[in-house]
Amino acid sequence: MSETAKFVLGDKTHEFPVHVGTENEKGIDISTLRGSSGYVTYDVGYKNTGATKSSITYISGEEGILRYRGYNIEELANKASFLEVAYLLLEGELPTASELSSFEEEITRHTLVNEKLKFVFDALPSGAHPMGQLMTMLSMFSAYYPEALNPHRSEEGRKLTIIRLLAKMPTLVAMIMKNKQGHPNVYPKNKLGYVENFLRMTFGHVTEDYTIDPVVVSAMNKLLILHADHEQNCSTSAVRLVGSSNANLYASVGAGVAALWGPLHGGANQKVLEMLEAIKDDGGDTDKWLNKAKDKNDPFRLMGFGHRVYKNFDPRAKIIKKSADEILEKMGINDPILEIAKKLEQAALNDSYFIDRKLFPNVDFYSGIIYRALGFPVEMFTVLFALGRLPGWMAQWKELRAEGQPIGRPRQIYIGTAERPFLDVNKR
Ligand code: CMC
Repeated sequence: MSETAKFVLGDKTHEFPVHVGTENEKGIDISTLRGSSGYVTYDVGYKNTGATKSSITYISGEEGILRYRGYNIEELANKASFLEVAYLLLEGELPTASELSSFEEEITRHTLVNEKLKFVFDALPSGAHPMGQLMTMLSMFSAYYPEALNPHRSEEGRKLTIIRLLAKMPTLVAMIMKNKQGHPNVYPKNKLGYVENFLRMTFGHVTEDYTIDPVVVSAMNKLLILHADHEQNCSTSAVRLVGSSNANLYASVGAGVAALWGPLHGGANQKVLEMLEAIKDDGGDTDKWLNKAKDKNDPFRLMGFGHRVYKNFDPRAKIIKKSADEILEKMGINDPILEIAKKLEQAALNDSYFIDRKLFPNVDFYSGIIYRALGFPVEMFTVLFALGRLPGWMAQWKELRAEGQPIGRPRQIYIGTAERPFLDVNKR
């Protein structure tokens, strides 16, 4: 017999079904709770709330497991291409050789962005934060592809919107980088792979050939895969919540970008590097900064540490730390920041404050060190996270649409003033 949960409220017992996931994750289905009892559940920050069933990504915070559609992140990061992973997330299965080549071909047909978008970039000061620029450009896409405004359009139409966005995102991110530098845009070269094309548009110059370095390609490919999905995190939940109102894909992904920008989420990668730089400039005293992070009267937190779900280790951080060492060595870079990061990590991992709270390095702790070695300015880091996360956001949006889920609309417990009469302005 399937398990049920019983809530005793006053003299009444309410019974609820328990849903069990593939990995024996269990959730009490309280969808009838309010109707039968008048009560709602109270869970600020959704720490215990399962917002959806999903077949895309599985995480075990206790065991440090991350799988996309059943495949371990370690295997995907070491063996797959980013487009293979994007296909896996969007379609549910790894592509066959012929599926992959037609997917790649379709992507290359849509890499150009409308030339008029250059004028929007012209209106943005070069100092504008790249995440703000990305949000602006995603809204502009809805103006150029108005047919995508209707998310109920045919399956084919939805697919085209997804392909378009996946194809244009690297071009857009490269344009943001060029706008930041005040350099002319480099157009896509479609005989190149997704990552190679992105790197050429970003680091190449219109006047010179760009030499593709396989070490850089492999590092970028790995970073994109590691960021590609992470189940119901803050930005993905934003995408799903906005998408649940039947908003179009550009608006939904734009909401994801906005949520990702925050320093507690994807914006942490920029903050980690700024923190490590500050520690270096301050003389490299990691204990001093660790004490700041532990001081409850100091708002400073150790950026790149802690995670809502991972309470043992973040498997992405483990892979990235190893890659940082390898890539810097292969590129012949000796970055003192890497030493400071390792010293800080070691001190934190041996400190009871961090041990007791199960705080470990997360994906953002070492990623910035690699991005910097590849030549990205620190303000671009969170945009690179968004570039990687895009297939995940779109797969989650697609799943939401396919299941016709209802609009997301949490309840609240009102604690404001009870009803009172309106007083005329002279009597207040
Ligand atoms: N430095 C110092 N103390 C911390 C930190 C930290 N980085 N993270 C959590 N704590 C403490 C926190 O003060 C609290 O202590 P106490 O129980 O004494 O009040 C306890 O640990 C639990 O923290 P929480 O804020 O309740 O945990 P949460 O699950 O709500 O927050 C988090 C998770 C990631 C927002 C948080 O750990 C944090 O702010 N980390 C720094 C920012 C960061 O690196 N974010 C990137 C996350 S991974 C990339 C992604 O977004 O996917």
